[in-house]
Amino acid sequence: MKDRVYIFDTTLRDGEQSPGASMNTEEKIKIASQLQRLGVDIIEAGFAAASPGDFDAIKRICEVVDRSVVCSLSRAVERDIVLAGESLQGARRKRIHTFIATSPIHMEHKLKMKPDEVVRRAVDAVKLAKSFTDDVEFSCEDAGRSEIPFLKEILDAVIEAGATTLNIPDTVGYRLPQEMGALIKELHEHVGERAIISVHCHNDLGLAVANSLFSVMNGARQVECTINGLGERAGNAALEEIVMAMKTRYDVFYNVETGINTKEIYPTSRLVSAITGIEPQPNKAIVGKNAFAHESGIHQDGMLKCQETYEIMRAEDIGLEHNRLVLGKHSGRHAFKERLEELGFELTKEELEKAFERFKTLADKKKEIFDDDIRMLIASEITNIPQAFELVGLQIADCSAGVPSAAVTIRHSERTITDAGIGDGTIDAIFKTIDRISGHAGVLKDYRVEAVSQGKDALAKVVVNVQFDGSKTAVIGHGLSIDTMLASAKAYIGALNSYLSMLPSDCKIDSCEGV
Ligand code: KIV
Ligand code: ZN
Repeated sequence: MKDRVYIFDTTLRDGEQSPGASMNTEEKIKIASQLQRLGVDIIEAGFAAASPGDFDAIKRICEVVDRSVVCSLSRAVERDIVLAGESLQGARRKRIHTFIATSPIHMEHKLKMKPDEVVRRAVDAVKLAKSFTDDVEFSCEDAGRSEIPFLKEILDAVIEAGATTLNIPDTVGYRLPQEMGALIKELHEHVGERAIISVHCHNDLGLAVANSLFSVMNGARQVECTINGLGERAGNAALEEIVMAMKTRYDVFYNVETGINTKEIYPTSRLVSAITGIEPQPNKAIVGKNAFAHESGIHQDGMLKCQETYEIMRAEDIGLEHNRLVLGKHSGRHAFKERLEELGFELTKEELEKAFERFKTLADKKKEIFDDDIRMLIASEITNIPQAFELVGLQIADCSAGVPSAAVTIRHSERTITDAGIGDGTIDAIFKTIDRISGHAGVLKDYRVEAVSQGKDALAKVVVNVQFDGSKTAVIGHGLSIDTMLASAKAYIGALNSYLSMLPSDCKIDSCEGV
């Protein structure tokens, strides 16, 4: 009998703490559904007390996730725990994850609390969490720099209070693999069968995956990780690397198994990068663009003779099929729907109609449509966010000699409005004109463009990060088009719609009055 290593995914919580990775509720729902398809045991859906938006996203995720456990994070504070409990009310399977710092440096400088007080707070937090669910996880924040006797003391106390999973985070990514292994061994021997030991490793020294694997070798039976290694600062341990290391080196990890369907790794990675706009580096293990590419002649020759000369895993095992040529402009609705199902998308009738319409428009302009084009179309263009503003037309003046200018036509509240403006460049002219028409002033924090799939007629994917109306929170917008300027305008309007969808309804002033 093999032991199960539970995979706890925190892409939607710690991953969202990556600069520029904030996601709206609809996007989080798409990712949560895909994480469930991937076979993740526990989905940390957010930090309920962080904002009404986070609370709402957790609630909505509970409505669509029915196999994985949905988890809500909370500090060891009464209000946080109550909100976490309330956010999970609709979940089929739920967990509250509560934490407090245990390292001398955090207790003295951040919490300004004595160790005894920290233990009391942890116990109270776990007891309160238990009134909402039996499944309670407790984390000793900065365990990697905490004293082992104190860790044992607080773990004993929270087990007594009802904690069922004990998480040992290396919050600042400080430990070396053999040190992390030794820490987990000692705590595992101390805790025994009383609770599951979990680890949560950050990647500040590039050791998060190694530290997680050493922890599993020494008794950890839950690993916290994220897709593409997203997360605070240098990120968290990458789910895909941990899972594939355990699968590929089954000679070492022969006594454990995960419930992950590895063929869903690549689609999940693509979805997360499409939504967050953060691409894994090309040489990133498992999901980087070059992870299965063989450039040198000697390697290519070896591969042709025997694949295993230079490959320890098969691309198919992570669901990476060579970008098959898919449908063309003569393809019908039925073929399109089947292809979507093969790619793992389950759309409602209405979403399917919308997607098919976009596909047809694309197929009119682009000869060859690849799987990645379709994935991107679904991830970034099919949205349930109310489209307060919709791009109807865009005209760019020849900017080779004169001042860059753009004429933009937008539909809003059943009216069609056209305006034109100038800027320091064409993109600047487009964005300024959209600001003027909508009455919402945006500050562009980030702008990225890249080609989806291959060919001169490849789709341009634009991702923007914008702060509107002086808000401190930047929202992400995506745009997809054969034309980069059009993709930019769509992305900017997407960000604006996302911003408006997050405002309380009485704040959605009709700013177009008088335009
Ligand atoms: O890094 C950390 O310590 C955390 C905890 C909240 C688990 O993210
Ligand atoms: Zn963390």
